[in-house]
Amino acid sequence: MRTVHSLKELRAILRGYRQQQKTVGLVPTMGNLHEGHISLVRKAAEAADIVVTSIFVNPMQFGANEDLDTYPRTLIEDQDKLSAAGNTLVFAPSAEEVYPDGLARHTRIVVPEVSDGHCGASRPGHFEGVATVVSVLFNMIQPDFAVFGEKDFQQLAVIRKMTRDLMMPVEVIGAPTVREKDGLAKSSRNTYLSEEERKIAPIIFRILEAVAAKIADGHNDFQVLAQEAGDSLREAGLRLDYFNIANSHTLKPAAPEDRDVTLLVAAFLGTTRLIDNVSVTR
Ligand code: PAJ
Repeated sequence: MRTVHSLKELRAILRGYRQQQKTVGLVPTMGNLHEGHISLVRKAAEAADIVVTSIFVNPMQFGANEDLDTYPRTLIEDQDKLSAAGNTLVFAPSAEEVYPDGLARHTRIVVPEVSDGHCGASRPGHFEGVATVVSVLFNMIQPDFAVFGEKDFQQLAVIRKMTRDLMMPVEVIGAPTVREKDGLAKSSRNTYLSEEERKIAPIIFRILEAVAAKIADGHNDFQVLAQEAGDSLREAGLRLDYFNIANSHTLKPAAPEDRDVTLLVAAFLGTTRLIDNVSVTR
């Protein structure tokens, strides 16, 4: 497995694979890889002949008061995990490589509507940063397939819409959320949790499952369900950002007759912001 840092080198290697008619799968990441990321690499390897994993902590998607500076950077460990999972190439560009004219001067991609609620409401500009960097990565790598986790449900919806709207010749593949044994969704940010906070964190998934079960049983008073779920999270010691019940396709508030609904939650444990979601078909 090779790691390259420059676009020039990346393109030279990819040209060789293209000449051999090999298809390319991309897994975009910010590194500090765990089993969730690795499951995406395996999925990409099922779809494509070669797999490129990008590792880039994208400054454009972080807010001013967020964890850009402290975000864990663990390239050596990441390389070992990727190599064991059958990844072909690691692309770890610098910010200068991705944004040659600087962040402020870079062209930006705005994906309307699906970017608006949920994390888009609490993190202004976040999905603009995500859509922009993913489109740059798509153009750098020109993959046939790209795999994203359902863990970031709204992000996946944003990428799907961007790809469709801009006619990008990339097939977007979603992959299920990988969890710890106690249900906590794996996340690079889990490493920020204290021992105490780590014990509380699994309640997020337990509450999601409990509400999903009620909805599957026919309850459709979504506002009341979301309110109660939020109260339970607060009682457990979390600071709630949002608990929303949305139409799985539009991400707008779910209507009583909607068949596919998704429960989306973001909450802080101490200073750590955790997100999770569960989808239900009725
Ligand atoms: P990052 O948080 O590193 O996640 C990279 C990919 O791994 C995303 O598609 C995310 O949904 C997926 N992922 C994370 N945790 C997962 C889990 N527990 N189970 C399954 N998949 C999981 O998401 C980003 O980076 C960035 O926004 C990025 C798309 C790379 C753009 O900068």
